[in-house]
Amino acid sequence: QQQSNTKMNTPNPPHVLILPFPFQGHINPALQFSRLLISKGLRVTLIVYAEITTELTQGQLGSLAVHFLSTHDDEEEEPAVQAGGFGFLDRFAKTVKKELPRVACEIERETGSGAACLVYDSVAPWALEVAREMNIPCASFFTQPCAVDAILYSYYEGRIRAPITDKEEKFRVDGMAEVSLAVHDLPSYLHDEDDEYAPECLALLAAQFSNVAGADWVFCNTFTALEEKIVHWMCNKFRFKAVGPTIPSIYLGKQLSSDDTCHEYGLSLFKAQHSPTYLKQWLDSQQPKSVVYVSFGSVASLSDKQTEEVAAALEKLDRPFLWVVRKSEQDKIPPGFVEDTSDRGLVVTWCCQLEVLAHASTVCFVTHCGWNSTIEALSMGVPMVAVPQFADQPTNAKFVEDVWGVGRDGEEKAMARSEEIEWGVVEVMEGERAKGIRKNAEKWKTLARAAVADGGSSDRNIEDFVDELVNLQL
Ligand code: UDX
Repeated sequence: QQQSNTKMNTPNPPHVLILPFPFQGHINPALQFSRLLISKGLRVTLIVYAEITTELTQGQLGSLAVHFLSTHDDEEEEPAVQAGGFGFLDRFAKTVKKELPRVACEIERETGSGAACLVYDSVAPWALEVAREMNIPCASFFTQPCAVDAILYSYYEGRIRAPITDKEEKFRVDGMAEVSLAVHDLPSYLHDEDDEYAPECLALLAAQFSNVAGADWVFCNTFTALEEKIVHWMCNKFRFKAVGPTIPSIYLGKQLSSDDTCHEYGLSLFKAQHSPTYLKQWLDSQQPKSVVYVSFGSVASLSDKQTEEVAAALEKLDRPFLWVVRKSEQDKIPPGFVEDTSDRGLVVTWCCQLEVLAHASTVCFVTHCGWNSTIEALSMGVPMVAVPQFADQPTNAKFVEDVWGVGRDGEEKAMARSEEIEWGVVEVMEGERAKGIRKNAEKWKTLARAAVADGGSSDRNIEDFVDELVNLQL
């Protein structure tokens, strides 16, 4: 395994504050990006807004400092957070605006090192103003792929109008004109008129571009080889740097430091039901390339009907499976399913997904195609059967099948159908098409590793950023 060099040896390295959006799919890449910066010699404090993340389970964090920002409750009259509601957004912004400058001063007093930069989640564009008030440079961090960002940018600039009502319309988007997109391939909020939150979500996503040209850097959790043309297009527009995959480097064949051996890095909003040892033993006991891994991420909530369809597919497939059904979703599992399939299947409330994807017995991933899950599977060379639900997931699924050639996308989005899952799994496992899919999966795995290896495209982009910060401090 390659070990990265700590290149800086100054007593007072630049101190970077990283502010993720307080959701699992945003905390994970921010945390791993923090670890990459630390491996280059920077100090990093991850700023986690605690209202939504009250039950975080803390894994190994090494030298990463985490500061939890408590809700600023001077104005308590606002209602409590509703599931799926946006009440917390204002409080998140208010709290960060008020508390972050004070926290930065506290950190400076304690460590002698003032904040040198604020890296904020792109869906919190108001943080740019916070950085300006603190008189420090800042970077916007996009946690979705460039393809999705390019589509949303087209919407922001008025080239795509929403809600899209002509369901037969086809789209070609600047930066990726070679890909023809059907309406159902676009982020759901552009066309899903049944989703009551769509207008709010779309406004939030469009706002990412409202001041991004003013950011000193724009980062994205992707890698150049994966989205080459769009990355170049982005580089012509912004001070853009692809820095992904921001997944624990140990899974990409790179050790960040001599004690970087633990796979349990993270801050998890969900508790794994079994110990990593139990899960490993279960996976070890399965045949190589036999287990179908199924997960719909941290947010998607399948209907009872969709959950039944997934269960029916797993029953008919008659293969080993590991199915993550979050605690809040468990009562949707058809009665008797867990018992009837216990000889070959395991249903868990949460697990360490990367351990599963990296395991030799895993053969494919039935996924909602959240961006973290997608880039994790791409990086581990695991073929995917896409069952996208909402947000960027349909676009990621389209790319999984048509652009990267690493899986099957469903005919109808936001709809799990038992036959489709069954055929999808068979298709990515057996026959001529499966051979091509496996070959592509290996190719992207190799390219993902090359991007983060010392001197690889993402590694160089991170080093350039570190050098620029150091120079600013001199
Ligand atoms: C959300 C949106 O749904 C997604 O579309 C967007 O791209 C990011 O924000 P989420 O639904 O959580 O994300 O999916 P995903 O992006 O795939 O992130 C889930 C993360 O949780 C992954 O890093 C995955 O490894 C981890 N995970 C998931 C576990 O560690 N254990 C599990 O059991 C399931």
